Amino acid sequence: MTNTQHGKRGGPPAAATERQTMRAVVQDRYGAAPEDVLRIAQTGRPTPGAGEVLVRVHASSVDRGTWHVMAGLPYPIRLAGFGLRRPKYANPGRNLAGTVDAVGDGGTGFTPGDAVFGIGTSTFAEYAVAPTATIAAMPATLTFDQAAAVPVSGLTALQAVRDHGRVRAGQAVLVVGASGGVGTFAVQLAKAFDAEVTGVCSTGKVDLVRSLGADHVIDHTRADFADGRRRYDVILDIGGNARLARLRRALTPRGRLVIVGGETDGRLLGGVDRQLRAMVLSPFTGQHLGTFVASENSADLMTLRELLEADRLTAVVDEVYPLDQAAAAIRHVLDGRARGKVVITVPERRVQGSPLEHHDGNQR
Ligand SMILES: NC(=O)c1ccc[n+]([C@@H]2O[C@H](COP(=O)([O-])OP(=O)(O)OC[C@H]3O[C@@H](n4cnc5c(N)ncnc54)[C@H](OP(=O)(O)O)[C@@H]3O)[C@@H](O)[C@H]2O)c1
Repeated sequence: MTNTQHGKRGGPPAAATERQTMRAVVQDRYGAAPEDVLRIAQTGRPTPGAGEVLVRVHASSVDRGTWHVMAGLPYPIRLAGFGLRRPKYANPGRNLAGTVDAVGDGGTGFTPGDAVFGIGTSTFAEYAVAPTATIAAMPATLTFDQAAAVPVSGLTALQAVRDHGRVRAGQAVLVVGASGGVGTFAVQLAKAFDAEVTGVCSTGKVDLVRSLGADHVIDHTRADFADGRRRYDVILDIGGNARLARLRRALTPRGRLVIVGGETDGRLLGGVDRQLRAMVLSPFTGQHLGTFVASENSADLMTLRELLEADRLTAVVDEVYPLDQAAAAIRHVLDGRARGKVVITVPERRVQGSPLEHHDGNQR
C-alpha cells in the first residue's frame, strides 16, 4: 500500500509523513470476531471540518455498541449511518479523551491544547475528529483513562435515570445489568437522585455493585428479581434480556420501565422486538413501558463532569488495553468479563522500529 494523507494517494516527504500520519485500528469489512476484522496500521490523520476538532486521543473505551458497529449487527445499525455493505468509518471507536490538536473552520470554542472528552468517530487511533456538539472540557479530577470510560455509557445512564426513568427521591429503582458499562453509572446516578437502589448482576460482581452504593444486590444466578416479593417504581433494564412479562411483574402498577438494551443473536432486530412490543403495549396499561436511543450532547457531558468532579460519580475502569490490543479489549467485553468499563490507552507514538504496515487512510 502507498503512503497517503487524508485519504489522498501520494508521497509526502518522510518528515511530513511522520507528522501527518498516525497509528490507528483499521477495519475493512464487517465481521463478528474482533481478532478477524481489526488490525493496526499507519494511516492518514483525519482533518476536522466546520464545527469539529481534531483530538490527539490519549484514551478511548469499549462498550457493547462497539461490537454492534464493528459487526454491522443487527442490520438496522447499517442504516443508521455506519455503512451499508462495509464499514463507513476506519474503526468502531466512539469514546475519546485527549487534547485538542486542531480546530475546524468557524471558531468552535475550543483551542489547541484543551483537554476534552466525548464522542467522535474512529477513536481507536492516535488522532480522531469529533464534533464540538459531542465533546466537553474534561473533568479536572480524572485521568485520560478514566475520562474515556465516561461518554457513551455515562450519557446513556444519565438519560435513563433522569429523563426516561424520571427517578425521584425515595423511589425504589431496580437496575438490571448493574455491573457493566452503563449499569455502573446508572446505579450511582440513581443513588445521586436519592433513590433506594437494587442492582442485579452475576455472583462475581456482587461486591462491585454493592461498592457503588446499591442498597440491595440480587445475584441473577441465584434469585429472581420478578419472584413477586418486591415491586419497583422504576426498572432500568440494561442487560439480560428479561421477558417483558417478567419485567412488568416486578414493576408497580404505575411504574416506569426503561429498556436500555439487552443482547440477543437476532441479526435482523437484535432484541429491538422486545422494545417495540413495550412501546406498543404502553398506552394500554397504567405502567409506562419505554425505550430510547441515547442523545450524544455536550450539555449532558458537562452534567456528568460536575458529578465526577464533585466525587458523586466514579468511572469504574476494569481493564486498560494498549491500542494494538483493541481486539482483545472488545473480546473482554463480549465475553461478559467486564466489571464496569474497558479502556483502550493510546501511548505516545513509537517512531522507529514500528512493525506497522501502511494503509490508504480513505476512511474517517
Ligand atoms: N439505548 C441506548 O442508546 C444504548 C446506549 C448504550 C448501550 N445500550 C445497550 O445497553 C446494553 C448494555 O451495554 P453495556 O455497554 O453496559 O454492556 P456491558 O458492559 O456488557 O454490560 C452488560 C450487563 O448485562 C448484565 N447481564 C448479562 N446477563 C444478564 C442476565 N441474565 N441478567 C441480568 N443481567 C445480565 C451483565 O452483568 P453480569 O455479567 O454481572 O451478569 C452486565 O452488567 C447493551 O445491550 C447495549 O447495546 C443502549
